[in-house]
Amino acid sequence: MADQSSRAGERYASAQILDYAARTHHPEDRALGRAFDAPARHGMPEIQLGQAEGRLLELLLRLTQARKVVEVGTLAGYSALWIARALPSDGHLWTIEANPKHAGVAAEVIGEAGLGDRVTILRADAAEILPTLRDSGPFCAVFLDADKGRYDVYGRWATENLRSGGLLIGDNAYLFGRLLEDSDEARAMRRFHEEMAINFDSVCVPTPDGLAVGLKVAPVA
Ligand code: DHB
Ligand code: MG
Repeated sequence: MADQSSRAGERYASAQILDYAARTHHPEDRALGRAFDAPARHGMPEIQLGQAEGRLLELLLRLTQARKVVEVGTLAGYSALWIARALPSDGHLWTIEANPKHAGVAAEVIGEAGLGDRVTILRADAAEILPTLRDSGPFCAVFLDADKGRYDVYGRWATENLRSGGLLIGDNAYLFGRLLEDSDEARAMRRFHEEMAINFDSVCVPTPDGLAVGLKVAPVA
């Protein structure tokens, strides 16, 4: 039966249906289109968020009235653009990208969109730079889309540096289907899930590769 299949993870989406839904609900303007196409234009890996995932990120940030956001893994700036658009004019995004070429493309994409003053691109290793960001917090949201074997480390930093009611979101939470394997990367991703479930009201939304979404709960007094 259809319902049972979809609850077991089967899906009805096709490329045509996804395209119709995206065009109907959130047609992309020139800046978003340029950002989405930037990895292909610059010979970078085409591993940016899907269009609907970008839109969902934007809506979640608006719902929580996020003002200060940290992103780990900028790539060419497509998700950063969705995040920056969700912020009020006094809001700010710090986005971390270790690859200098990718950071350069992202700076161009975000500058072209006129959002350069709302975004700081940190060209650094996330595990090294995150501790130095503490003084700019607490943050309203943290979005992870970087090296999957360190989501546990990044998730712990987020837990410590988010305000209560802040959002933690992680892309690729199914680890390309490898989440349950016996590997260091899979164990790190499972720790991310399990620690998130303790400190956040959370769900793993069944996007193609899983989008973990959590709202940080206030510590019991
Ligand atoms: C890869 C990374 C991602 O963040 C993603 O969404 C898809 C693929 C990758 O490293 O291959
Ligand atoms: Mg990803």
